[in-house]
Amino acid sequence: MVYLIQIKQYVWTVGKKGRIKMMFSIKRFVDRMIGAPRGIEQYSYIPILMEALKDNPKNILEWGTGLSTSLMSLMCPNASIVAIEHNYKWFLYYNYKFRNNANVSVVYVPNIKNYSNYPLGLRGCFDLVFVDGMDRNKCLVVANAKLVVGGRIILHDVDRKEYLKGVGLFTVVRKCFNTVLLKSLVVK
Ligand SMILES: C[S@@+](CC[C@H](N)C(=O)[O-])C[C@H]1O[C@@H](n2cnc3c(N)ncnc32)[C@H](O)[C@@H]1O
Repeated sequence: MVYLIQIKQYVWTVGKKGRIKMMFSIKRFVDRMIGAPRGIEQYSYIPILMEALKDNPKNILEWGTGLSTSLMSLMCPNASIVAIEHNYKWFLYYNYKFRNNANVSVVYVPNIKNYSNYPLGLRGCFDLVFVDGMDRNKCLVVANAKLVVGGRIILHDVDRKEYLKGVGLFTVVRKCFNTVLLKSLVVK
């Protein structure tokens, strides 16, 4: 099992043999957020994701693989994680990266229509869904259909006006930077 620990401003991973590796500096992350240099906003979901992962979700779904997939598998090593990827290059990269993680399944879905609908063909529902890929309004509709009672959805880049429609399906639990934690409007 791999643990994530925080020592002062640094987040470290502690591996099986007690090997410690620095993952990122919270101070540097926040400094860069404040200065907002180009590109850093792609990781501004980290505070909300870390908070949601503390609830120890057992079944996680994600659209858009990346650092988020690594954080999920590190913090929730016993969770089953399905990560949907449309880009073949990134699919190959992350599929290889998680080749020894039986609980992480990276799926390649290049077709835009199948991309959002893919989870409808999966058995069971999810405790946590992270929407950070393509076609996010449609993904939010499908996420809502595949959410367990009390489940949560994270939407990144919520400040983009085109996502207002999708966000309207939910109650906003919390917002941090340009990411929201959502719950279903209807108590399922
Ligand atoms: C908004 S990014 C997804 C970000 C992902 N949730 C993360 O935490 O990095 C959307 C797409 O960018 C691509 N991608 C993933 N990692 C990337 C990286 N390090 N640099 C550039 N593009 C990346 C993938 O095709 C992914 O589906």
